[in-house]
Amino acid sequence: MANLREPSRRAGSMPRSAIREIMSLAATMPDVIHLEVGEPDAATPVPIIERAFGAVRAGATKYAPNAGLKTLRELVAKRCSSRLKQGIAADRIVITTGAIGGLFSSMFAVLDAGDEVLIPDPGWPNYEAICHLAGATPIRYAMPESRGFLPDLAELRSLITPKTKAILINTPGNPTGAVFPRALMQGIVELVREHGLYLVSDEIYEDIVFDGEHVSAAEFGADDNVFIVSGFSKSYAMTGWRLGWLVCPPALAAVAASLQEPTTSCASTPSQMAGEGALLGDQQIVADFRATFHRRRDLVVGALAGTSYLPIIPAGAFYALVDVSAAGMTSFEVAKAALVDASVAVVPGSTFGPGTDRYVRIAYTIEDQRLVEGVRRLRHFLENRTTMKKVARA
Ligand SMILES: Cc1ncc(COP(=O)(O)O)c(C=O)c1O
Repeated sequence: MANLREPSRRAGSMPRSAIREIMSLAATMPDVIHLEVGEPDAATPVPIIERAFGAVRAGATKYAPNAGLKTLRELVAKRCSSRLKQGIAADRIVITTGAIGGLFSSMFAVLDAGDEVLIPDPGWPNYEAICHLAGATPIRYAMPESRGFLPDLAELRSLITPKTKAILINTPGNPTGAVFPRALMQGIVELVREHGLYLVSDEIYEDIVFDGEHVSAAEFGADDNVFIVSGFSKSYAMTGWRLGWLVCPPALAAVAASLQEPTTSCASTPSQMAGEGALLGDQQIVADFRATFHRRRDLVVGALAGTSYLPIIPAGAFYALVDVSAAGMTSFEVAKAALVDASVAVVPGSTFGPGTDRYVRIAYTIEDQRLVEGVRRLRHFLENRTTMKKVARA
């Protein structure tokens, strides 16, 4: 019998996030406080569930068009138009399987093998994985603590080469919680227009801003250059429904829609009915979720007060980076040791990029008391390690 041929090298060498390793270890241990999980703890609001179930009972069990149900696309277009104070036509909207589906579709709509894409450091690990699968080269731009975890326009400009096809940004940011100010966003949009690049703007946390405002990349009129990725997961506590949307440049909406066919065919029809329920229902639920995360953000800030562990006060999303450099270990070692010694699970910063190894990420997506106890455990662990390091040095 002939030797089996080699399976995909590209798939086999896809960069994988260390978060899975921490989660697997945490699952084997008792009484762990989970600060590593990046999803809202609330259940999807009942009216959304009811609408989806009612629709399924009435027959919404068939394929939807590649671009999504017309009714849902119209609702998303209406929401985007009112937020952006400009008309967004429904034929620019593609309904996707989660915001990840929007990221995948926008990147695959513009990338060819060999293209370069500027992605953030720190940034969500899936950006690098998508570039890898598209055969494109991710080039990291820095978002250091010294700039409040924001990019620098001059640096972005200096990284552009003839091979650059797109810039990917994320605001409010995972894992930083940073929110891009208006002038920076405008500058980035002008930069992509000047160089004829595409901008993929991941705005999945758009509803979770506590200080300042969310500024969308779509606000500056560069429709031909800009994709907006967003969805239902974080705003409506709908992570498991796998439902997102993409606002496309007019000329690329059909391509983005056609990319659904060989990947998922379409977002799940029952989930799309749930999405309609979310957009038609009382938006107070979104404000309530935001208020909950705001309160928890303040609890985290309070629990770390008087230390140098919190580099910035996160203005949005539901994450904070915690500076663990004083422990004198890599972020992965810190995450493992904090789990084993202090029963608190966090994500090593190295997961988010090479410049982030001095931090771990915590998510404030659990109830208040457990959250405060988890941060207390992490603080205590760091204080002990720092003292041990100083004693060892003396
Ligand atoms: C920055 C960022 N973008 C996109 C997503 C994906 O969202 P969805 O669950 O809708 O695919 C996440 C999920 O954690 C995220 O953190």
